[in-house]
Amino acid sequence: MITSNELRRKYIEFFKSKGHAEISGKSLIPENDPTVLFTTAGMHPLVPYLLGNPHPAGKRLCDYQKCVRTGDIDEVGDAAHLTFFEMLGNWSLGDYFKKDSIAYSWELLTDPTWLALDPRMLSVTVFAGDDNAPRDEDSAGFWKDVGVPEGRIAYLPASDNWWAAGPTGPCGPDTEIFYWVGTGFPPALSNKGTDPKNWMEIWNNVFMEYNRVDEKTLVRLPAQNVDTGMGLERTVAVLQGKTSVYQTEAFAAILEAIGEVSGKVYGEGPGLDHSFRIIADHVRSATMILGDSKGLSPSNVGAGYVLRRLIRRAVRHGRKLGIEAPFLPSVAAAVVDIYQGPYPELAGNRARVMEELAAEEAKFSETLKAGEHEWQKLLPNLQKNPQKTVPGRVAFRLYDTYGFPIEMTEELATEAGMKVDKEGFDAEFKKHQELSRAGSEQLFKGGMADHSDVSTAYHTATHLLQQALTIVLGDHVAQKGSNITSERLRFDFAHPAPVTKEELEKVEAIVNEQIKRDLPVTMAVMKLEDARAAGARALFGEKYEESVKVYTMGDFSKEVCGGPHVERTGVLGKFRIQKEQSSSSGVRRIYAVLE
Ligand code: ALA
Repeated sequence: MITSNELRRKYIEFFKSKGHAEISGKSLIPENDPTVLFTTAGMHPLVPYLLGNPHPAGKRLCDYQKCVRTGDIDEVGDAAHLTFFEMLGNWSLGDYFKKDSIAYSWELLTDPTWLALDPRMLSVTVFAGDDNAPRDEDSAGFWKDVGVPEGRIAYLPASDNWWAAGPTGPCGPDTEIFYWVGTGFPPALSNKGTDPKNWMEIWNNVFMEYNRVDEKTLVRLPAQNVDTGMGLERTVAVLQGKTSVYQTEAFAAILEAIGEVSGKVYGEGPGLDHSFRIIADHVRSATMILGDSKGLSPSNVGAGYVLRRLIRRAVRHGRKLGIEAPFLPSVAAAVVDIYQGPYPELAGNRARVMEELAAEEAKFSETLKAGEHEWQKLLPNLQKNPQKTVPGRVAFRLYDTYGFPIEMTEELATEAGMKVDKEGFDAEFKKHQELSRAGSEQLFKGGMADHSDVSTAYHTATHLLQQALTIVLGDHVAQKGSNITSERLRFDFAHPAPVTKEELEKVEAIVNEQIKRDLPVTMAVMKLEDARAAGARALFGEKYEESVKVYTMGDFSKEVCGGPHVERTGVLGKFRIQKEQSSSSGVRRIYAVLE
């Protein structure tokens, strides 16, 4: 039986044998991407290269990448959806295109020396065509060439077979590969178009030859690229003859840990199993997020809010299983044990993961009791409401006073046959919060990096800021996070105390001086060890390729970085620090703008 570790290894080995360079997966928290809270696909860190920047490792790449998608959160608990998943990816940056991509996928999946899946259990979809791009007869033809019969090929519209990570950025038609999860063998004429429920997607090959500039404009990219993503958990499930990702070996230990703390057994009943699966999924995601090299903590905004929501929902489902004592750390320990091999940063951050989970669980447990009591008290009155709707201000009070994420109130309402006035809640929320959650919701629906000039300028400013902080505060100022929108930069860094007003003024002055000096920004590709020897800053604990890009800003800063950057610092305008605050223990956060 092939395990997750073996699939990861085989996938990489296969693509290496086809001339691909293995690159390392990146952090779950995207750098300098204004529009997403988490890395949602393996292609995410590769956007600049898909847009035409040369990649230091070449034109054929492969990797495995940690991903978090929370758009699917309501579907978590079924057989196939997960908030954290691993994506196995291979890319052609203007090298091979549809023919080889399809042939490689088929060979890896069906060849007896590789994954040896039964071809009769596979089907595919191709793009049916619309005003943007023609019907993908090429791909259909290449599938037939490798032996896929006509009846296993579905032509589907853009809603199924056009892939883009967000409203702008690289995109294109895709061809997707599915495995039969129905009983027995599929009938001769069966595919995703005729029987959507019984075909589970395992791999998506995107033919990225377009760039969506805005809603109306689609332009051709300089090269025809291939971006593929295989879902590791789902593929392991089919390779192990299972119909659910939760039946695979990677989940067994996690479900067992939940069984131990609850005294219940997975598989005993649909209601219990649903809670088991939600806890397994959410604790797994929370552990991977907390154990990431970027050190995110639960909070009320952005990615921190998603993390909080995952943890709190897991706790609530723990209560449903009758668990009253703290239990998240013991489930998380199982997750760390399973994943620390492929993701060594987890082992290094083990203590942090456990501390953060325990703290959030304790905090939430206190309010949960009071909140659920309050909810029970409110319920009889709420149910008198003829529209069966929980008013926004009630939902907001549960959020504000009892720490109930709105999604949890919605879940409680659904259980009581009601719904929540979400608009009313949002209105209340906006009144009370400096940053609206509606904003972050927009963000994590997906969205592509806006590699516009503004973001690029903020990215360069971030390098200047870090160097200035090092000069003023000392060498301990390691980057803990970075996030850029078109309005500001945000930079998290290790520092034990608040930065004083005088220190901030000094930092600001140093950055502005470098802007005034109009330093040239240059890039060189070199071996990582040479970069370090040249004194380039690199993120501690981050995995890098052997060859890296090093950006140098005059005599002021030198950093290993994927780019992009402005050509001269003079274009940045005036740099102003807006705010300095705590981010988490030992980590400070700065917001700054260019004016
Ligand atoms: N980027 C493609 C996906 O995420 C492969 O499905």
